[in-house]
Amino acid sequence: MNEYLPGLEGVPATKSNISDIDGDKGILSYRGYPISQLAEHSTFEETTLLLLDGQLPTSDTLAVFDDQLRKNRRVKYNIRNMMMSLPATGHPMEMLQTAVASLGMFYPGSECLTGGDACADLDYVRNMTVKIIARMPVMVTMWEHIRNGYDPVAPRADLNYAANFLYMFTGQEHDPFVVDIFDKCLILHAEHTINASTFAALVAGSTLTSPYGVVAAAIGTLSGPLHGGANEKVVAMLKQIGSPSKVKAWLDNALANKEKIWGMGHREYNVKDPRATILQKFMESYIKQKGGKLSALFETALALEEVAQERLGAKGVYPNVDYYSGILYSEIGIPVDQFTSIFAVARSAGWLAHWREQLSNNRIFRPTQVYTGSPTRDYVPIKKRRAP
Ligand code: COA
Repeated sequence: MNEYLPGLEGVPATKSNISDIDGDKGILSYRGYPISQLAEHSTFEETTLLLLDGQLPTSDTLAVFDDQLRKNRRVKYNIRNMMMSLPATGHPMEMLQTAVASLGMFYPGSECLTGGDACADLDYVRNMTVKIIARMPVMVTMWEHIRNGYDPVAPRADLNYAANFLYMFTGQEHDPFVVDIFDKCLILHAEHTINASTFAALVAGSTLTSPYGVVAAAIGTLSGPLHGGANEKVVAMLKQIGSPSKVKAWLDNALANKEKIWGMGHREYNVKDPRATILQKFMESYIKQKGGKLSALFETALALEEVAQERLGAKGVYPNVDYYSGILYSEIGIPVDQFTSIFAVARSAGWLAHWREQLSNNRIFRPTQVYTGSPTRDYVPIKKRRAP
């Protein structure tokens, strides 16, 4: 195949049985289970096992996995020292990429990968997977305190994944209602077929680099505003708009200037992203629980969605997962520049499920290109060159 398709639109990059998207009906499923059902009934721990193993776990299997996640939350104090030497003004995603990549230094052991053709040792794969997923929220929250000049809050093994994540952010236990919503947000962000960061993870994994290298590559890719970084941009955009009454004029101007409406549009969906629909409902129930007062950001977002539908609906541009997630995280009190880190923590489940799938039938990614450069020519000595 020599046809070049920009952005590899519609080009299958792998075979996978982990998740699926029906972009016309707006359905996302993990291992066949619709995301709406998982968000209603599952937990992040259970959904992670589903993604990794392909089936819903029994209560015994889940208990073992949950226990492993709780026991692997501590990280070596030299990781804290390393973070203390990073500039406090650095972006949390850059810190996270650095910290995850550094785990290879602090916890070496990629023999399984380098010893053979590909890793057949599922214990090794599970062990590394557990350690990374357990430590990601720890590193994100350690940084929140370190960059503000404080010691990190120690993890607590008596709290579930979502509760401990929020606890480590603030040093306080959160309302169970908020923990439950946060847990569901992690489920919604855990996996999404071969998106850009998962593709980066596959490419890295196909070289048999360590899982830290795989996840660090994926984190760097997720950071961009066209991908996970959009949730931060959405909040800035809504603040800039200011109020629902200003939405129409703002949108007219933005579209006339060919600006992007952050948190809208998706290569795979022609309708509203099902995760955005669920997050919008979470936001509504959060508001109800907190006394019914609509936040200015949410009001503006609802108005923008309505007007944007008239202008962009024909192109299949509707809210995606990043549209409502940032508004919800803002309400919970999470700093805006940490939104994408939360996305990365949740998505580590999907990345590592794909890493395992890649290793099970590995072949290095080495695509081709359409060369558009000069024909072969002779080297010209510098004295004989003329300015172009
Ligand atoms: N705002 C305004 N117009 C948009 C748009 C947006 N957010 N997303 C897509 N469009 C328009 C494009 O301008 C293009 O219009 P045209 O055909 O008249 O030129 C059309 O819809 C197709 O867009 P395209 O950029 O080709 O889609 P893509 O599949 O290459 O890009 C995204 C997908 C996600 C990168 C893109 O929708 C985007 O940049 N969205 C904003 C960033 C974002 O929210 N990212 C998070 C994704 S989960």
